Amino acid sequence: MLQTEKQYVQWRENKNGNESLHKARWLSASSHAPPARIVVVDDKTTADEAYRLACEGTSLLWRGDFHNARQLLQALKRRIERTNERSEQRKIKKAANKSAKSAKSNKTAFESSETPKDIPNLFHQQRQIQAQRSRILSRLLLELDSDYASHLRRSPDVSAACTAAFGQLDKAADESCVLSFRDLQGALGAAQWREKGVPVESLGLSIYPHYGVFAPPRHEYVQLLLDAPLPTVHDVAYDIGTGTGLLAIILAQRGVKQVIATDLNPRALACANENFTRQGLANVQLQQADLYPTDAPFANLIVCNPPWLPAKPSSPLEYAVYDANSAMLRGLLQGAKSHLAKQGEVWLILSDLAEHLQLRTRDELLGWFANAGLAVTYRLDTKPKHGRSQDETDPLFAARSAEVTSLWCLQRV
Ligand SMILES: C[S@@+](CC[C@H](N)C(=O)[O-])C[C@H]1O[C@@H](n2cnc3c(N)ncnc32)[C@H](O)[C@@H]1O
Repeated sequence: MLQTEKQYVQWRENKNGNESLHKARWLSASSHAPPARIVVVDDKTTADEAYRLACEGTSLLWRGDFHNARQLLQALKRRIERTNERSEQRKIKKAANKSAKSAKSNKTAFESSETPKDIPNLFHQQRQIQAQRSRILSRLLLELDSDYASHLRRSPDVSAACTAAFGQLDKAADESCVLSFRDLQGALGAAQWREKGVPVESLGLSIYPHYGVFAPPRHEYVQLLLDAPLPTVHDVAYDIGTGTGLLAIILAQRGVKQVIATDLNPRALACANENFTRQGLANVQLQQADLYPTDAPFANLIVCNPPWLPAKPSSPLEYAVYDANSAMLRGLLQGAKSHLAKQGEVWLILSDLAEHLQLRTRDELLGWFANAGLAVTYRLDTKPKHGRSQDETDPLFAARSAEVTSLWCLQRV
């Protein structure tokens, strides 16, 4: 996740009575630009003062106790939430109430004359609020030395987690680095997942996600893959956009003889490789590819769970969720016929949340199938059970609570 071109930050700091200019390498998992203004803060800085500075665009380089920094981050979150509730959220909730009313009256968003233009706006406003929240919280920084050692009081050893997440720093250059506490927390969380694994109950196994790889927070769609009848001939299957390798593992366990899994993200390939090894799977191959593998036999089955929302990703971590202009989805469909064996099937796993948010219509989706020369053989549906679909205070509750995830089985017309 390190930027290919090194970027640096500078700040003035008083050490032992002498104020001087300091410089360090800048790391950002979200590709945030290096902060222009940094001030040094510590345990004496109040949460109100820190919040004011962060909102003004000043970044805060923490020199206090490690655990106090975590508490400060929580205090900043509470202040952001309070401010949002008072301003943006009030407007958004008003619009959301309207859409909830239309949902209660059994009208779809398309049937209601009041809501159609509100819902996409609501979604974009929500993303803006999240982005602003992320920018403010990312302004709390810490410095680590060239082997990711932290010199903060009561700091845990973060070097292994940072090395796994951000790669080795150039030790010969002997330069320290500055990163946000949020990125550090992300790296520590990912290290725990990678060590403990995430249980997938319906499969009776755990998968081990890596930092920066989509780790499915919801597993309802796994059941769809277990329920769909395999094509009679199932010698070769592709898993396009394999992520942790979860779907490829299901296919191999169900008896597909050869599975070829692709992803654009090198982190995903390393992660899937580890998961295949843990499962003792020798019949799964990995390729870094934009969609389809090269030099591969025709597939009896092509499985894909693409990013499900047609919107521009705003950071590398969002590429698994957002697909600008549905490019991956449309590319997958367009390329399917030339990779499928006779009688081959495409299993497309797709949530209809984009339809409820009015970012895509059902007719558009069906039109893309038809243009790609594919027809729907059958469809299996599941309702998400995750927390956000039940949270009535979520401004997008009406859309989230109506969401259905489907496995579309498509074949040549
Ligand atoms: C929603 S995630 C699904 C991951 C995994 N298949 C699963 O179901 O848990 C989408 C995956 O597609 C990958 N991806 C996005 N665009 C791609 C492309 N053009 N070619 C290959 N993989 C892509 C992302 O890196 C991500 O791992």
